[in-house]
Amino acid sequence: MKEKLEQLKTEALLALKSVKDKMQLEELELKMLGRKSGQLTELLKGLKDVSEDARKQIGQIANEVKKEMEKALQSKKNELAQAEMAGLLEKEYIDVTQPVLPAKTFGHLHPNTIIQKDLEEFFTSMGFMVLDGPELESEYYNFTSLNIPADHPARDMQDTFYIKGHSDWVMRTHTSPVQVRSMQKYGAPLRAIIPGKCFRNEATDVRHEHTFYQLEGLVIDKDVNFSHMKGVLEAVFQHIFGPETKIRLRPKFYPFVEPGVNGEVTCFLCKGIGCRLCKQTGWLEVFGAGMIHPNVLAEGGIDASKYQGFAFGFGLTRLVMLKYGIEDIRLLESGSLKFLEQF
Ligand code: PHE
Repeated sequence: MKEKLEQLKTEALLALKSVKDKMQLEELELKMLGRKSGQLTELLKGLKDVSEDARKQIGQIANEVKKEMEKALQSKKNELAQAEMAGLLEKEYIDVTQPVLPAKTFGHLHPNTIIQKDLEEFFTSMGFMVLDGPELESEYYNFTSLNIPADHPARDMQDTFYIKGHSDWVMRTHTSPVQVRSMQKYGAPLRAIIPGKCFRNEATDVRHEHTFYQLEGLVIDKDVNFSHMKGVLEAVFQHIFGPETKIRLRPKFYPFVEPGVNGEVTCFLCKGIGCRLCKQTGWLEVFGAGMIHPNVLAEGGIDASKYQGFAFGFGLTRLVMLKYGIEDIRLLESGSLKFLEQF
């Protein structure tokens, strides 16, 4: 039995050498020292067949062998734990001398916002306030206050979204409702722009979208006339499209202005010669404008015999498309990063 014990020890120590991880170690421990069916236990079962003296002696040796094996197992355990730690350290190693990588940019402005901010700055430099108004608007402000009575066909020009259960609420079709709102709030004289989101019930395609941006502007004072309006608009479009830009005003009916105009600027791409962008006309249609109708001033609580003013509305979305050469309006509200990351 003595030899067998020695042999068991040698075997165990040898096996231990090839142990590579915790699992193997546990397996070996169980196989050698397991209480129920470990090899040592099995071996010691034979003790009952030897003499009392021999039993004592062998028992002692068995104890030593067990202790030695336990010690060897323990030191292997430590060795494995150390190796594991070293591996972890290696993985988490940081080279503090490495040069800093370029910072990841976390975001940037939407093209609408870029143009909007630019225009806000330009207008504030001319003494305009920047105002806001509700997107869910009353039918009164969106239409009636702007000289568009309920049965007027001009309502059909701007088909909107009505709100179920609130027949007098609409998603605003233009930023013009803020004209009367701001007159009521600030009175005259007044100089303000109102950039914001508008909605129309459109069948969408590359040029039409149900959600888009406009920028409204109005000036009310004692001696404001049509040439002031032209001067301001010229300054704005020269700021956006360059100093050679000219503007052209042609009569157009809007119920809330009189006279009303449709405003065009010389095509910045062909400089007025005619190209694909301007459909060979040399002009791009970008705004509506006119002298504020006395009925609208009256709705705003302003005495039309003392004050007059002009108003204009740009398609802000259209300016963005022209400026950046965006051919499909739907991209702007799409949330597509592939598109947005270009700006
Ligand atoms: N609100 C008009 C539109 O959406 C534009 C406009 C604004 C026209 C102000 C005249 C004066 O088409």
